[in-house]
Amino acid sequence: MKDFIKALPKAELHLHIEGSFEPELMFEIAQRNQIAIPYKTIDEVKKAYQFSCLQDFLDIYYAGAGVLIHEQDFYDLAMAYYQKCYENNVIHTEIMFDPQTHTERGIAFETVINGLQKARIDAKEKWGINSLFIMSYLRHLSEESAFETLKQSLPYKDLITAVGLDSSEMGNPPSKFKNVFEVSVKEGYIPVAHAGEEGPTEYIWEAIDVLKVARIDHGNRCLEDENLVQEIVKRDLALTVCPLSNLELRNTDVLTNHPLKKLLDKGIKATVNSDDPAYFGGYMNANFVKVQEALNLSKEEIVTLVRNSFNYSFATDEQKEIYLKKVNEVVNEINS
Ligand code: ADE
Ligand code: ZN
Repeated sequence: MKDFIKALPKAELHLHIEGSFEPELMFEIAQRNQIAIPYKTIDEVKKAYQFSCLQDFLDIYYAGAGVLIHEQDFYDLAMAYYQKCYENNVIHTEIMFDPQTHTERGIAFETVINGLQKARIDAKEKWGINSLFIMSYLRHLSEESAFETLKQSLPYKDLITAVGLDSSEMGNPPSKFKNVFEVSVKEGYIPVAHAGEEGPTEYIWEAIDVLKVARIDHGNRCLEDENLVQEIVKRDLALTVCPLSNLELRNTDVLTNHPLKKLLDKGIKATVNSDDPAYFGGYMNANFVKVQEALNLSKEEIVTLVRNSFNYSFATDEQKEIYLKKVNEVVNEINS
């Protein structure tokens, strides 16, 4: 099964580039930028990565991102992630980045996007990886701040495919960002949002009815409302599920209780993703392997999950066809 998972070409639809910041690279960049971090060793960093909820993690995640200053830093961060994509057979990825995490510290939007864009070009050339960018608004900040970010992004509109909504979910419902999502869509961005990771089903309803998202990030808690489940199926909305993230942030007590299989059984188009792999103990293959073991998923279910990621990606229909052919080739090869 492990070899089967490894051999399949995959797409990742839910990945925060700041969440792929491995401690080794964090130390290196902190040193060259002469920024002090509150850890002496890599072991100390890893020990600090014990979270009891989303906010616990976010505090550490934002502190880590604080050492990123120069275009080269964002380039190195993204290249390290693309290398992991190559190692995990991820051939298409949709990368979220949080501009406000950096602009709030006085780093120019341009610095962030230029570093990411250069890495995207080099990763395509070096490993053949295709990627899209999702600019995520931080929901603990105001809608006005999101509007400011939207404005800053417009000169780089052609480089960005979608807008997202992340950070502290409780107390920051999707409806808080109704206006900025409306304008973002008018500017040509596809809307997605984190909803129902920690937050209640009402937040998922708002994400689909008020923000009119094309995909739901996480969405696990939809299972608490059968009408919502039916609506998600009817509207053909995919969920970007992140098993190891859910485990590490205590949204599931043990992986054997993870809702992934239930979601599939309800007819929901679920996908598997790594969210913040440097913090949650694994990239794409690890997420697939661990959740497969815990839920005893069949090869057919694994292939369904992999196909869902390509089908519900924001790639063109032509590109999707090429990807799905590649998946079929590997499946046929293994079955022959
Ligand atoms: N930002 C980075 N990872 C996140 C997560 N899992 N939920 C909300 N915001 C995030
Ligand atoms: Zn996320």
